[in-house]
Amino acid sequence: MARVLIAFASREGHTELIAHHVARKLEDRRHMVRLINLTAGEGEAGADEYDAAIIAGSIHRGNFAGELTSFLMRHGPAVRSHASAFLPVSLTAASHDPHEVAALNEIGQRFLFEAGWQPDFVEHVAGAVYDRQLNLIERTVLHSIMRQHDEEPDQSGTTVLTDWARLDEFVGEFAAKL
Ligand SMILES: Cc1cc2nc3c(=O)[nH]c(=O)nc-3n(C[C@H](O)[C@H](O)[C@H](O)COP(=O)(O)O)c2cc1C
Repeated sequence: MARVLIAFASREGHTELIAHHVARKLEDRRHMVRLINLTAGEGEAGADEYDAAIIAGSIHRGNFAGELTSFLMRHGPAVRSHASAFLPVSLTAASHDPHEVAALNEIGQRFLFEAGWQPDFVEHVAGAVYDRQLNLIERTVLHSIMRQHDEEPDQSGTTVLTDWARLDEFVGEFAAKL
C-alpha cells in the first residue's frame, strides 16, 4: 500500500471530478490517497510525507492556474523525489489535429520546465464544458471551438469530453510504479 498525494487546481470543477475519480481508482487498489484542492486553498500540512504524487490542473487561455506553480515551489523537492504524474486538463486534449496536439504538449512542457519537474507520467486529459459556469462570451467561444472539432455542445449544458476508460488505464500504469 502506497500513500499517494493528489493536488489539483480546478476552475469550473471538472479537474476536481477527475482528481476524485483517480483517487477512487487508487483506493480500489488499496492505496491511501489524500486530495488537496489548491483552488479552495486547502491546508498542505504533511504534503511532503507521501510515496507518490499526482498534480492535476486545467488550462485556461493557454495557462495553468498560479496555485499549481506555487504548490510546486513549496513542495517541489518532495514531488521530484517520488513517483509522480502531471495531469493537464484541457479541451485541446480531445483534438486529433497534430498542430494542436503539439501546441498543447508545448504548454505542458513549458510549465514543467519552469517548475523544474520531470514527472514519470504526463497524461493530458480532455476536459468538459459546463455552460452554467461560463459567461456568454466564454460559452460562445468554447461552443464554437467544439463545433470546429465536430463536437456538438450537449443540450443539457454539460459537454464532457473526458475519456474515462483511458484515465483508468493511466491509473493502472501509475499504480504499477508504486
Ligand atoms: C475561459 C476559458 C478558457 C479556456 N482556455 C483553454 C485553452 O487555452 N486551451 C484548452 O485546451 N482548453 C481551454 N479551456 C477549456 C478548459 O481547459 C476545460 O473546460 C477544462 O475542463 C476546465 O477544467 P476545470 O473545470 O477543472 O477548470 C478553457 C475554458 C475556459 C472556460
